[in-house]
Amino acid sequence: MQATTIMEQGAEREFVIPANTFAETVVEVEHYTDRLFRFRITRPASFRFRSGEFVMIGLPRGDKPVFRAYSISSPAWDDEIEFFSIKVPNGPLTEHLQKIRVGDTILMRQKATGTLVLDALRPGKRLFLISTGTGIAPFASLIRDPETYEKFDRIYLTHTCRDIADLKYGYDVAKLAGEDILVGEEASARLVHFATTTREETAHMGRITTLIENDSLFSTLGIEPLDRENDRVMICGSMGLNLDMKVILEARGFEEGSNSRPADYVVERAFVG
Ligand code: A2P
Repeated sequence: MQATTIMEQGAEREFVIPANTFAETVVEVEHYTDRLFRFRITRPASFRFRSGEFVMIGLPRGDKPVFRAYSISSPAWDDEIEFFSIKVPNGPLTEHLQKIRVGDTILMRQKATGTLVLDALRPGKRLFLISTGTGIAPFASLIRDPETYEKFDRIYLTHTCRDIADLKYGYDVAKLAGEDILVGEEASARLVHFATTTREETAHMGRITTLIENDSLFSTLGIEPLDRENDRVMICGSMGLNLDMKVILEARGFEEGSNSRPADYVVERAFVG
């Protein structure tokens, strides 16, 4: 295999790119907190994905680069690719990933996949996108996809984090959706962004699971409670959120969907390591 010139920390180096892998360039990095950041990379012309899917990414380091699953947070029509990431101290990938600079090389596997896609849901009227932490990433993609607004009348994006600073990315992408040339009009009229915190004091506090079970999510928004007939749900967050939401939905008769068998809700774990 032939070595290619890559960039690491602003310095050129030779590296053998693994098979079925793109080597792309970082074009933007924004740090939100000491735990969260987003970055954008160039998009290979041949790379296709559906909004909501994830892809494996890594860095050109060592003999066997470490790859981790990352939801793509930019919409499928965008000519760059965006990711929203946690920074894990001593995390095998994020320890290094959090130090990337514009111009550095990112490795990305050629195939995207995942269940948080519109194809895995039966037709419905309202779409609830339930997220905690970096679990908002796939939804940041979906709320900027015109197909989401073609398939659903109302989209409710919920984002729960410990502190206010952790919610910033969600506010930014909801604003971008509202101003977007493709979906701005629909998003302004039909997308509701509902952010809650669990530790720092804000107007809306509590775990989203609690706010669904005690109906306060619906009474606060002035909307009907969940019903399987018209509602579809996507879930992405911590293991605890995913399990608790599954229990809540299945108690109300919702069935889990997949690419091959669309149903009422879909779930995926947010990237963790
Ligand atoms: P909490 O502060 O009550 O644990 P983390 O930063 O640990 O990934 O958590 C992100 C957010 O997800 C926090 O607000 C956290 O609330 C919330 N969370 C954690 N576990 C659950 C769960 N089982 N159901 C709902 N929300 C959860």
